[in-house]
Amino acid sequence: MSRPSLGGYGRVRRPNRVGGRAGGVEGDDPTVSEPGFGAYDLVVVANRLPVDRKEEPGGSTSWQPSPGGLVAALEPIMRRHEGAWVGWTGAPGEAPEPFDAQGMHLVPVPLSEEEVELYYEGMSNGTLWPLYHDVIVQPSFHRQWWDSYVRVNWRFAQAAARQAARGATVWVQDYQLQLVPRMLRDVRPDLRIGFFNHIPFPPYEIYSQLPWRRQVLDGLMGADLLGFQRPADANNFLRACRRCGLPTRRGEVVVPDEHSPHGRRAVRAAAFPISVDTAALDEIARRPEVAERAREIRRELGDPDVVLLGVDRLDYTKGILHRLKAVAELYDDERLPLPGTVFVQVATPSRERVESYQALRDEVEVTVGRINGVHGQLGKPAVHYLHQSFPRDELAALYLAADVLLVTALRDGMNLVAKEYVASRFDEGGALVLSEFTGASIELTQAYLINPHDIDGLKNQLVNAVRDAPRERSRRMRAMRRRVWQHDVGRWAQDFLQALERVRPGDDPGGEDGASAPEEASEPASPELVAVGGRDRRSTDHPGSDRGDVDVRDADVRGVGQPVPR
Ligand code: ADP
Ligand code: G6P
Repeated sequence: MSRPSLGGYGRVRRPNRVGGRAGGVEGDDPTVSEPGFGAYDLVVVANRLPVDRKEEPGGSTSWQPSPGGLVAALEPIMRRHEGAWVGWTGAPGEAPEPFDAQGMHLVPVPLSEEEVELYYEGMSNGTLWPLYHDVIVQPSFHRQWWDSYVRVNWRFAQAAARQAARGATVWVQDYQLQLVPRMLRDVRPDLRIGFFNHIPFPPYEIYSQLPWRRQVLDGLMGADLLGFQRPADANNFLRACRRCGLPTRRGEVVVPDEHSPHGRRAVRAAAFPISVDTAALDEIARRPEVAERAREIRRELGDPDVVLLGVDRLDYTKGILHRLKAVAELYDDERLPLPGTVFVQVATPSRERVESYQALRDEVEVTVGRINGVHGQLGKPAVHYLHQSFPRDELAALYLAADVLLVTALRDGMNLVAKEYVASRFDEGGALVLSEFTGASIELTQAYLINPHDIDGLKNQLVNAVRDAPRERSRRMRAMRRRVWQHDVGRWAQDFLQALERVRPGDDPGGEDGASAPEEASEPASPELVAVGGRDRRSTDHPGSDRGDVDVRDADVRGVGQPVPR
């Protein structure tokens, strides 16, 4: 991978803020908005820092890698470019002072016990996460959760404003912080603001359930550039804007802006599929000790003929139960012979106090127990289930040891595990079974693609992945490896940041002169929405067409309510 050029972002500058602490952005009062300047040209704002604070039994504190794809993707970028990273430590209570670690300036934002419950577990993971993932489980809507979400978003916006140098780039991440772009622009109109949504953006028919649908769009409108995983997500977003009365034209939303000479500004929305640090993963996998560990894992599993692997956060979006069902039936049918086959499911603990996650864990563990009860032998379980996190090297060894990786997500913004597996298979071995409802499936088209709801189809593809000739498996893996080498995480960040740099704040976006397309004529803005949001909205503006810009193949409503097929 060539080291990406990010146009000089992230170099640490000498502090140039005015006054003592970045003046006027302290406290939780959104009316206090005198801007100050920080020291960083690139500031990332994410709900989580790349490290989690853990209280050890003796009272000491340790730092461990944070879970999830967002951190996995951004960490290598930020390490290389010495930016500031504003985020939560993963534990409630007071936040430690900002500190430097591994080339990053980490700025902890505190969350109280109550905010963890209302903002993080509630609004973020009880409302937005299920809503944006096709309502696989029912989202809950609570006004108290929303109030906490607004307060916490404001705190993140303030923290970012304190770190950003004059004219800096601030890159806001993911669904937990959708109000930050607008809040930040209000206090720091000098900034260039980008936002990237790591998860899907749902079709309007689903999005419209959100009681604060207009306020969330308004929050996002503070950005200059909005990045999505798939063209379909960008398209869903633009359609939501039109339905809520915001004019769009050619992939942009035109919004009023008192700081712009033309009184308006364009917010661009486009797809920037995220990726992995291919060179780093390839390098780890080539280490002799990792290869040795991979062989050892197979020995520990009893030297089976076939090792199947699943690696996920324990989340209902990942389709773990669908996968278990398919594997169990293949054991029943003896199409996967036992004890020659083993299935290893690694499931990182996640959001453990949220009810739907507790219910999923119970169901997964009962199912694994049932399969092992029927198909296991003494010392030879048919499914190895590990509810644990592992270091990078161990994951790499697992990837190398696996004949087939099963990614059966019901909906997933990208699924970096799929790309990590491909990046690690320098030997061109292994096979990837991949759900078509992942962002990754758009790029990794040589995978054994499946619809996880179609259990028979999933079983057939899994058997193909196991039985296909090595030449065929290598051919597919080679093609997928080409893709992840060409589009690695460095390229993703470079593409996004360069597109953000191209935004010229003074440009006239040209008004809302796009011709109304016929489908939009039948999709008027919902009149009751237009007044919501508290800003100057020209509700009668006719939306322009952006349909031609974005791939709309996936923009339909898919898979509402997702029981495991019987
Ligand atoms: P999500 O972001 O929804 O968790 P992704 O597949 O995009 O899903 O990213 C998951 C990330 O978490 C990957 O980088 C993967 O390596 C990491 N991961 C998943 N399971 C584990 C585990 N048990 N231990 C350590 N890291 C894990
Ligand atoms: C996904 C989300 C991230 C989130 C991660 C882990 O990758 O897109 O925003 O950080 O999951 O989830 P958690 O709730 O533990 O932060």
